[in-house]
Amino acid sequence: MKIIKSGAKFSAIVKIGEDLREESKKTGKEFLYLNRGINQVVNIDLSKIIPMIDFNSSALQYYPHSKGMPALRAAINKEFFAGKTSGDNIFVTAGGMNALALVFQTLAVETVYTHSLYWGAYTNALKIAGKKQEFYADFNFLKSNYKTFDNAAVIICDPSNPSGSKADDKELFEILDLLGSQNTTVIWDSPYRRLFFDNTDSLYQKLLGYGNVIITESFSKSIGLSGQRIGFMHCKNTGFNEEFAVRLLYSGNGINAFAQILVEKILSTPEGKKAAYDFKKKTVADITENIKLLKDKKLLAEEFYESGTPVGIFVIVNKSFDELKERNIGSVPLSYFTKRNDIDTEKYSRICVSVPKDDFKRFFERF
Ligand SMILES: Cc1ncc(COP(=O)(O)O)c(C=O)c1O
Repeated sequence: MKIIKSGAKFSAIVKIGEDLREESKKTGKEFLYLNRGINQVVNIDLSKIIPMIDFNSSALQYYPHSKGMPALRAAINKEFFAGKTSGDNIFVTAGGMNALALVFQTLAVETVYTHSLYWGAYTNALKIAGKKQEFYADFNFLKSNYKTFDNAAVIICDPSNPSGSKADDKELFEILDLLGSQNTTVIWDSPYRRLFFDNTDSLYQKLLGYGNVIITESFSKSIGLSGQRIGFMHCKNTGFNEEFAVRLLYSGNGINAFAQILVEKILSTPEGKKAAYDFKKKTVADITENIKLLKDKKLLAEEFYESGTPVGIFVIVNKSFDELKERNIGSVPLSYFTKRNDIDTEKYSRICVSVPKDDFKRFFERF
């Protein structure tokens, strides 16, 4: 069988998780799995929402609209854009990854720039789409070099995966203004942001002022539903949207109707809004405590937060994968998230701080 080799690799982070679980099984020791990229403080409580869903309905049993259910797109418009965009600019996708993969395929650019500390999946999805990946050192670099991104798109991820650093929104808009002045396409991929904000956050409305911005979003992080595989793409460019719609249709023939109805209920009913509010409140409270503990114990790698605030859900600690593993803490070496050679990546790891604070304290007391 002849095959096309994309050069993309299977996730190495998945392998770390499998190895740690294997070791835990063998040794009987309890591990704290901070290698994972999910909110583990609490699950969103869906008990009041599930009874609202009619499983014996055509809406749930038949093919949904290939761009996403109109009711969900209307709810997304209200929640993220205060109703100021058109449902026609919103496309429901199978999570942020699916949105990104289709955006990469659809854009006619040679290169996509990511932060020098970046989510490794970008590399693989870009390889599959036949795009080159280049790096900008940090947001200051974007500001000084905004004229140099010819035939390229730029991804902005804030708060960052892997550092959990949040830049000032003012600075982000300065960058958007500069890149907008060159008509450089910006892929706004910030799925961690809405964990920390509710719909009073006006950032997405302001993004509507930029015709060069494509938003990829996810419900995996902000409301903890990574298992449902649901997110969306927003863009105002009709030509781009036409091509995206076709690719979305022929990649999956629509997104799971249950996931769409579930998220629509969470975004638009009082019970759903309360469940999302409680989830975010409890999650952020423990994340904040956990980061404070790391700071107090001088384990937070402060050098990565000189121009941003560590908010989570990840942070970089000044301990290696092995040092953490000796204390039964799972992590991912920083070398998985950067190609920079001015950092001694072996000394640092990315950990997820979105776990119950008592567990976190119990394990980090070992330092
Ligand atoms: C920066 C970033 N973007 C997008 C995603 C996509 O998430 P999902 O495909 O679960 O929606 C993730 C997931 O880890 C991420 O870290």
